[in-house]
Amino acid sequence: MNSILPGAPWLIAHKSMLGINRPNKITLNGQDYVLWQNSQKEIFALENSCPHMQAPLSNGWMCQKRNTIACPFHALEFDGQGRLVDQDGQISSRPVANSLSCIAIGDLIWTYGNLEPKLPIPDLISRLTEGFEFIGVTGVRSIQANLLDSILINYDFNHPPGTHREPFKLIASEVKEYQPNSYYTKVMQETRTNEPTFKELLRNPALLFSPKVITNSFEYAFPSITSILQNTAVGKVAQFFMLYPEQEKSTKSFVLVYLQTSNLIVPYVKRTILKALDLVIEQDAGTVETLYPRQEPKIRLPQEEVMFHAAKLYHEW
Ligand code: FES
Ligand SMILES: [Fe+2]
Repeated sequence: MNSILPGAPWLIAHKSMLGINRPNKITLNGQDYVLWQNSQKEIFALENSCPHMQAPLSNGWMCQKRNTIACPFHALEFDGQGRLVDQDGQISSRPVANSLSCIAIGDLIWTYGNLEPKLPIPDLISRLTEGFEFIGVTGVRSIQANLLDSILINYDFNHPPGTHREPFKLIASEVKEYQPNSYYTKVMQETRTNEPTFKELLRNPALLFSPKVITNSFEYAFPSITSILQNTAVGKVAQFFMLYPEQEKSTKSFVLVYLQTSNLIVPYVKRTILKALDLVIEQDAGTVETLYPRQEPKIRLPQEEVMFHAAKLYHEW
């Protein structure tokens, strides 16, 4: 496949998603890679197809002694630069497997997919999470929809009362402030909710922490990040919705979640937040995966300009 949005910086993982000395398979723009982190927390990535007889390296194992990945077929070993390493640790002079160049910034792993960078790596996450604690990754899934539809739902301020009506009890979503700034748009949004019943609270305890009127501050770094800062009863929650193209019709999603609080937060609260956001992604995915092919809309809603702005960035990339 042709690369989608070539030169975009894609955040492909948070280090906590990778484990230590464990092969992880990722797909970016139609190409499979194996990604791993060694005990020093260094990151390596190779094309997943073994240069010998094309076995998937991600089904192999790590050899800690030589810092290599072993192929599951004939056990040949490769280092992070794709060079062949023999049992005595002798390294071939040239790489035989192609590597994926990755940029690790703190715990975040970025890549341009070996293409010429078109935009700098955004500093949004480090900027917004000063003084926050990282609480986890959630919403990890391959959405069976193209990147554009998966992006646009994050810029669509009319979808919460439909897509997230239950169990979040959202009834209205209103853009209060919109500051388009090329790839780095900001939006202040207000969402009103219905009083949950006791049964609904049991089903979604996150409703306990959310006020009746929720103010969300959105900041975007197109195309990869949608961030939402939210004040809740347990503190400030910073959510980063990440997307990158796996295939034409498969888009990887995951959400990094950070919390700033002066309360002593029990693990149950953190789990509740992560679970609620997982449900948000499940609902967004359910919506975009079931859309019929797009046609010219016969109806316009207010506050769609934010979405049109993102669509324009995509089409004029
Ligand atoms: S296919 Fe990988 S070592 Fe043979
Ligand atoms: Fe949504």
